Amino acid sequence: MSEKTPDRVFIFDTTLRDGEQSPGFHLDGNSKLRIARQLEKLGVDVIEAGFPISSPGDFEACRRIAREIRGATVTALARAVREDIDAVWGAIKEAETPQIHIVLSVSDVHIDRKLGMTRAEVLKRGAEMVSYARSLCDRVQYSPEDAGRADPDYLVETVETMIAAGANVINIPDTTGYCLPWEFGEIVRRAIEEARGSEKALFSVHCHNDLGLAVANTLAALAAGARRVECTINGIGERAGNTSLEEIVMLLSVRQAKLGLEGGVDTKEITRASRLVAELTGTPVQPNKAVVGANAFAHASGIHQDGVLKDRLNYEIMKPEDVGLSDSRIVLTARSGRHAFHHRLGRLGITLADGNVEAAWQRFLQVADTKKEVTDEDLRKIAAAASEPNGHETNGHPPVTDQLLDHNHVADTLRHLIFG
Ligand code: KIV
Ligand code: ZN
Repeated sequence: MSEKTPDRVFIFDTTLRDGEQSPGFHLDGNSKLRIARQLEKLGVDVIEAGFPISSPGDFEACRRIAREIRGATVTALARAVREDIDAVWGAIKEAETPQIHIVLSVSDVHIDRKLGMTRAEVLKRGAEMVSYARSLCDRVQYSPEDAGRADPDYLVETVETMIAAGANVINIPDTTGYCLPWEFGEIVRRAIEEARGSEKALFSVHCHNDLGLAVANTLAALAAGARRVECTINGIGERAGNTSLEEIVMLLSVRQAKLGLEGGVDTKEITRASRLVAELTGTPVQPNKAVVGANAFAHASGIHQDGVLKDRLNYEIMKPEDVGLSDSRIVLTARSGRHAFHHRLGRLGITLADGNVEAAWQRFLQVADTKKEVTDEDLRKIAAAASEPNGHETNGHPPVTDQLLDHNHVADTLRHLIFG
């Protein structure tokens, strides 16, 4: 029996728009272009380059990206007003495949408190702007902002109105990160099943991470029939950020057999993309971040290290090589066991005489209790000291444990002087 070919999920990257618009993440034109080139290597389907009406610098950055990038659709954001749409078109029309992205609210909270309009006025404005954008560009995406908190019937009406006006992509956003996965899945399912003409449009989703559910909500939307996902490298974006590209892409890859979906990007470029975004935004990735955090492929406890050294499958559900890392890391700490200790000594080419093994291990434990990680340099000293008849090192320095205890002693003295 032949296996079913997985369904393609299109990856829309908005690192340069939603990601860049968050506080502290500003990128200049050159940095945006460098990231866009890395996204091109990653093989994303759509790059949202920016919000051209917002500043001349962003307009120019979008224009450079549109001119240079090949292979991916290039889009940029407009509010539902002609000036914004003209700015987007001016910035992206030279792209190989340009797309205009229009956003206009759909929830009553936004319609009353932000726009001061009626539902009917919003529908009319949206449809007029979609058809105006279609007069300029073949591809128009419409995002009913705050769909996650909208009246589902009015959302369905909005979706069918915008498709009738010419939108070929409908992107359903959970703008405030409010939805539960099954709620969001139901919103998307209803939009696809109930809006007339929905078969003419590609359904996309855009989830925020205010309650940590952005990836789960995106997955629920895929299960409900959406086939495009908006996401950002390192999950950056407004407030708590957006669906993280690396998480959703690796989720599709690792669980492909179960989900029957595939992302179509070169996952080996993920780490490079993550590091570039961290470097250019000046914002490091939290160590425990899934897929790209420094600890994502690191093993520190003795039980896990022993398991991984026997077979990586024991504790790793994806290969570090698949995201562009050379290997996983065995971190030597006070919670490590003998297996990892000897493994690392072996990798350093250090062989201990049988009679020195126990002394070296005891010294390792002493050192490990004083610091976060025992380095290769520490291990060399530990091994050298264990081989000495008096247990001291030969290089004239005190043994490593004494040095560390000295540091602790200095720290204690300082603390005593400052705090009494
Ligand atoms: O969060 C949001 O609703 C957006 C739209 C522009 C898609 O960023
Ligand atoms: Zn957003």
